[in-house]
Amino acid sequence: MSRIVYVNGDYLPEEEATVSIFDRGFLMADGVYEVTSVLGGKLIDFAGHARRLARSLTELDMVMPMSEDDLLAIHRDLVAKNGIEDGMIYLQVTRGAPGDRDFAFPPEDTPQTVVLFTQNKPGLADSPAAKTGIKIISIDDIRWGRRDIKTVQLLYPSMGKMMAKKAGADDAWMVENGSVTEGTSNNAYIVKGGTIVTRQLSTDILHGITRAAVLRFAKEAQMKVEERPFTIEEAQEADEAFVTSASTFVMPVVEIDGTTLGDGTPGPVATRLREIYLEESRKAAI
Ligand code: PDD
Repeated sequence: MSRIVYVNGDYLPEEEATVSIFDRGFLMADGVYEVTSVLGGKLIDFAGHARRLARSLTELDMVMPMSEDDLLAIHRDLVAKNGIEDGMIYLQVTRGAPGDRDFAFPPEDTPQTVVLFTQNKPGLADSPAAKTGIKIISIDDIRWGRRDIKTVQLLYPSMGKMMAKKAGADDAWMVENGSVTEGTSNNAYIVKGGTIVTRQLSTDILHGITRAAVLRFAKEAQMKVEERPFTIEEAQEADEAFVTSASTFVMPVVEIDGTTLGDGTPGPVATRLREIYLEESRKAAI
C-alpha cells in the first residue's frame, strides 16, 4: 500500500503528489515545518507544535494556512489512512509558487503550499540508542541568526550530521562564541551534581516543544534546572548529558568529542526524564 500524503487540500498516494518547480520552499527555502510524533496512534504535544508553527509563520510574515482544528483533523486523517501506531508527522508550509523566480515575496494572495506526510517508525519509543546513549562531536555554529524560526533551511544541520557520521559519532552539537547552542536537530543539556543545565531561550536556538515539556517535568520532580550557556569543556566534565526532540524524546549522550561521560552509559537523570516524558506524553496524547 502506498503512503497517503496531504498536498494542498488533497489526500493522494505519494507517487501522485506534486509541488511546482517554482515553489519558494524549493527555490528559496522559504518555508517552515513541524515534526509531531505519534505514539500508540496518538499525537504528542500537538498544541505546542501548532503554536510554534503559528509563531514561525508570523515571524516570516506568513499566515496560518488553516485553523488549528483543521490542522489537527489532517494529522489524525493521515495517522488513520496510513495505520500509524508509532512514528512522526511532517508538516511544511511554504510561501507558495508564484510561477517564476523572484527574490521579492509574491503577492499576498499567492496560495501557500501545505504538505504533510507520515513516517512510520514502529517501536519509536524503544529505540536501541536510548539504551546505549549516543556519541556527539562539536562543530562551529554557522547558521543564520533566527534559529527560533523553524525554517526548512536545513543544509548546515544535514552537513553537521554527516560530519558526525564521518567522525564515527551519532550527532553534533553546535558551538558559537565558545558555548553550545544546540544539536543539529535537538536541544542540548548537561547534568552536574544533580542540576540540569540547558541554554536559555533566545533567537540562538529553536524553542523545542520537547524541551518545554521536559523542563516542566523536571521541575515538577523537584530537579534543579539552570537555563544558561555551557561550554564543551564543561559538558565533558559533566556527570551526564542528553538531547531532546520530538523524534528522539530524551536521548542520553555518553561521549563528547571523544571524552566519555561518567561510566559511558546513560545517566540516571536522563533515564528518569525519558521515562517521565514518555509516560506523561502518552497520557496527554490526543
Ligand atoms: N528537529 N533544535 C533544532 C535545531 C531542531 O531541529 C529541533 C527539532 C529541536 C527540538 O525541537 P522539538 O523538541 O520541538 O522537536 C531543537 C526536528 C525533530 C527535525 O528537524 O526533525
